[in-house]
Amino acid sequence: MTMTETRQVKELLSRDQIARRVQELGAQIAADYQGKELVLVGVLKGSFLFLADLARAIPGTDVLVDFLGLASYGDATRSSGVVQITADLTKPIEGKHVLVVEDIVDTGLTMEYLLDNLKTRHPASVKLCSLLHKPSRSVKQIPIDYLGFTIPDLFVIGYGLDYAQRYRNLPYIGVLE
Ligand code: PRP
Repeated sequence: MTMTETRQVKELLSRDQIARRVQELGAQIAADYQGKELVLVGVLKGSFLFLADLARAIPGTDVLVDFLGLASYGDATRSSGVVQITADLTKPIEGKHVLVVEDIVDTGLTMEYLLDNLKTRHPASVKLCSLLHKPSRSVKQIPIDYLGFTIPDLFVIGYGLDYAQRYRNLPYIGVLE
């Protein structure tokens, strides 16, 4: 695909729907972690917009933010389960309450790898917040502690999610037609 090629994008989740759900998730997370320091771990690149909005929906000062880069070897639309950490956390998470922030759990292979990896670092707790879940493609059952939306088996883009690295900047989630 070239930059000049134009494809229709059909909206699946509007900007408003996403914003409302993110506020609800933030309120729930704030209540659950009240009085505790929380480390939000954004999984790059897909989670960058979700994490930015979610962090602002969690009131209080006990929220730290860190990032981790993951790349899965596979083609543009499928995850292979072989995952590489392309950028690691900047600080140890030993003894910390960690909330992994993901854009989508699809087969679950990426999260299985990451959650196992983080647990070896002895955090106080590790939970998962994912904006989207596509249960129809599940290979590994990953418990999602905070879930934005369950979606059908469609290739979704926007709000951080890409097709060949493009469309991440769309303010809504759509499907390429
Ligand atoms: C996407 C997404 C998840 C993973 C989910 O990442 O952000 O990390 O795939 O797939 P799975 O449940 O089938 O393993 P991608 O490799 O596209 O990288 P990106 O976040 O940089 O877009």
